[in-house]
Amino acid sequence: MLNPHHYKTYVGPFARWDEVREVIPRFLIETCGLQPHHRLVDIGCGTLRIGRPLINYLNRAHYTGLEASAEALAIGRCKELPRDLEATKAPLFLVNSDFDLAGVQRGFDFALAHEVFIHCGHAQLAQCAAQLVTADFRGTFILTIRIGAQDIETGRPHYDHASHEAVTYRRETLDSALDPWAIEEVHDCQLKDVADEATRRMIVCRRQD
Ligand SMILES: C[S@@+](CC[C@H](N)C(=O)[O-])C[C@H]1O[C@@H](n2cnc3c(N)ncnc32)[C@H](O)[C@@H]1O
Repeated sequence: MLNPHHYKTYVGPFARWDEVREVIPRFLIETCGLQPHHRLVDIGCGTLRIGRPLINYLNRAHYTGLEASAEALAIGRCKELPRDLEATKAPLFLVNSDFDLAGVQRGFDFALAHEVFIHCGHAQLAQCAAQLVTADFRGTFILTIRIGAQDIETGRPHYDHASHEAVTYRRETLDSALDPWAIEEVHDCQLKDVADEATRRMIVCRRQD
């Protein structure tokens, strides 16, 4: 069970909460061209570390948060989303671990998966890419990925936040899991206190078919 007093640590070290919250939305806006009229799905939105500023920035009903843990999302909404902001911005939330976007309006411009696929297995990234195709997503897919000389897999079919294996992709494995998206750019988000270079690295992908 998640301790509501420690909900920030569900998504990473407490010390990084404020910096990630500031740096990632800025990266999306200044580098990736996110504007208020765009629609964005925040895959693995967790306790709304990034969701909160994005909900604030985007137009009403243009933010969708997708999260596997109903509990993490509920605590995030309770702690991070003031009722008046939720009423004004009407964010949409989905709870499932299959990356299933059925039931929400199509036409997303951006899909963000921040620090999700550095913990999930390779098959889950392929599943996510396939679900984005099913949802007819043709926008920009931005995700944190650890790229290395060896494939390193998690032994688990589903994410377990208590066990952060260093899931890593060889470039060939990554290209195959992402298909039909291809990496167009790799950015170092310049997060200060991050020893693991991979968690600073965001890849920007666009659909090739
Ligand atoms: C390290 S946290 C990052 C949360 C958020 N993106 C952020 O940066 O603050 C990873 C999140 O991905 C969620 N997650 C893992 N597997 C998932 C899946 N299959 N579908 C949806 N969410 C998933 C976890 O529950 C967790 O909230």
